Amino acid sequence: MKWKIGNVKIDNQVVLAPMAGICDSAFRRIVKSMGCGLIETEMVSTRAIMHLNSKTQEMLMMTDYERPIAQQIFGSDVESFEIASHYIIENMNPDIIDINMGCPVTKVAVKSGAGSALLKDPEKASEIVKTVVDNVDIPVTVKIRSGWNENNAVEIAKTVENAGACAIAIHPRTRHERYDIPADWSIIKDVKDNVSIPVIGNGDIRTCYDAKRMIDETGCDAIMIGRGVMGNPWIIKQCVEYLDYGKEPERVSSKEKLEMFKKHTELIYKDSDNEKIIAHKLRTNAAYYMKNLHGSVEIKKKIFQTKSTEELFDLLENYVKTLRY
Ligand SMILES: Cc1cc2nc3c(=O)[nH]c(=O)nc-3n(C[C@H](O)[C@H](O)[C@H](O)COP(=O)(O)O)c2cc1C
Repeated sequence: MKWKIGNVKIDNQVVLAPMAGICDSAFRRIVKSMGCGLIETEMVSTRAIMHLNSKTQEMLMMTDYERPIAQQIFGSDVESFEIASHYIIENMNPDIIDINMGCPVTKVAVKSGAGSALLKDPEKASEIVKTVVDNVDIPVTVKIRSGWNENNAVEIAKTVENAGACAIAIHPRTRHERYDIPADWSIIKDVKDNVSIPVIGNGDIRTCYDAKRMIDETGCDAIMIGRGVMGNPWIIKQCVEYLDYGKEPERVSSKEKLEMFKKHTELIYKDSDNEKIIAHKLRTNAAYYMKNLHGSVEIKKKIFQTKSTEELFDLLENYVKTLRY
């Protein structure tokens, strides 16, 4: 089903979640090739954008193929949001800017009052959203957890809606809960029932059936998938086809997984010439693609012992030959 965020048209209800260290452009292009309706980048710090270095520039890289795309930013001071928003519009030109109010990690965000710490301070959250909205002419969205220690998702959702946000994504766990308990989808419904902007539901979607159930139970406008996509981009296509046409998902063979990993590898090489970063990304992704296959725990150990891309490919090819499917 088609829908919109502000004036941005989105072809289906499947959204890629922002994931730091995972959702680089190569990953996003693989996900886009599966028909993803809206792609989110990993979060980038507004302060890092102000003091731009080559690592931040590489993180901000995006291609037209990934559109519509939302660039996620995080920070705590209004001035840095203003400067970062201008930089992003002038240099990256995404379709949407998304503000992170969910990151639970102390060292990365919370210590400085960013990410989920903003859930404790609705006034500040509002000020930040207003600032970004006033400084850009594209839709601004917000991604939240359900609260700091306690659920205040509806209060925050209304606050950011009043401040001018065009959509809200909700991962219904408090900062305190981290990932320790199942996502409480009833909070997505509460948010949906209390705001007029589109609501994107997130948390624990592992199959296309989960996606449909989340929409049915909560009335959310779209679903967002994070961990379920790692090593399994097919889940995007399966969700799109099941939600739009009721098409049942097909099983993906180990050979197809290996081929996709090779395609992914090519994209990683195209985007970077830093051998250390490439090696890290290849091993991490290889482990995800092989996850859940017979004997994959053993193979994972061997993946991280390989010394070159050829050795890694040889290992995976020989491994896949031993599998029945
Ligand atoms: C490795 C990793 C990195 C993440 N990075 C971000 C991020 O940069 N910004 C953000 O808003 N959420 C981030 N998240 C949270 C996800 O976007 C998502 O809300 C969460 O994983 C729940 O969805 P899931 O059950 O589909 O994974 C991250 C999650 C993981 C596992």
